[in-house]
Amino acid sequence: MRAPFLIDCDTGIDDAIALSYLACRADVEVAGIVSTGGNVPAATVHRNNLVLTGLLGLEVPVALGADRPLVEPPMFADDTHGPAGLGHAVLPDPVRAEDPRRGAQLWIDLARERPGELTGLVLGPHTNLALALELEPELPRLLRRLHVMGGSIHHRGNTGPTSEWNIAVDPEAAQRVLAAFATAPRRPVLGALQATERIVFSATQLERLEQLAERSPHPVARILADAVRFYFEFHRADGFGWMAHVHDPLVTAHAVTGDFAGTRPLAVDVELAGTLTRGQTVGDELGRWGREPTVDLLAEVRPAEFVEHLLSTLEAGLG
Ligand code: RIB
Ligand code: CA
Repeated sequence: MRAPFLIDCDTGIDDAIALSYLACRADVEVAGIVSTGGNVPAATVHRNNLVLTGLLGLEVPVALGADRPLVEPPMFADDTHGPAGLGHAVLPDPVRAEDPRRGAQLWIDLARERPGELTGLVLGPHTNLALALELEPELPRLLRRLHVMGGSIHHRGNTGPTSEWNIAVDPEAAQRVLAAFATAPRRPVLGALQATERIVFSATQLERLEQLAERSPHPVARILADAVRFYFEFHRADGFGWMAHVHDPLVTAHAVTGDFAGTRPLAVDVELAGTLTRGQTVGDELGRWGREPTVDLLAEVRPAEFVEHLLSTLEAGLG
């Protein structure tokens, strides 16, 4: 029995690793993909998703999302992911046709078709899920569960001093999604920076990807190696040294396996009005708000075990 997933992503280098990982898993059905603007514009994300699903053999609906956040002006991360979103990778032209629906509609249709079965995985800004909630407020009860890469709890940001990229791009959308899913039968799992930055690719992992690309005829092996090399160059230029924080795959693998990290309940909300802190995800550790927990926060990450699992899964699936 393969577990169905809808992936809403801003592909992006680590999004591409996560999509490849899912394609390598025999226990996962990728039911659909929503292309959300973030690392690069939505149209570029969409092209990346259409090319990657074609090369990965994922004959699944890929729907284009909104071309801007709900309120915030669009911003992109060309420096981090490259102008085309996949670093140095050279992609062929897409051969797959896009799904004619808008991203928000794909969320709604897939959730309604399989009530209680579909796991939602948000690896980019929350724009299209928020739009879907406006049209179908029952989504939190139609989905099996929601898993999100985003936010930073009691930890510095990576976009503003206190804000993480996926939330900073569209804070209004993130706030609406967290509020709506707080009442879901199972709280969303939130993989925030203090957890995902425990996942570090060193030169060893980059070399493993390069060796995979050298020996494997699979085109995605070369795409990932060339994309991740660019990601290392960004992290070095950003002062972190020759390494890369790999965020989306941890949240993805935990959503599939329940492994590699624990969780703890926490009331989390998004700051919208702060002049210095807009887009910050605030966690109420002492219960000062008097609110029930809104997320299950990823914690107690096991980095070495996860990184080995990720690389060996990619080597087996793309080898
Ligand atoms: O802050 C990291 C997140 O922002 C990741 O999802 C990365 O792909 C970017 O979208
Ligand atoms: Ca992402």
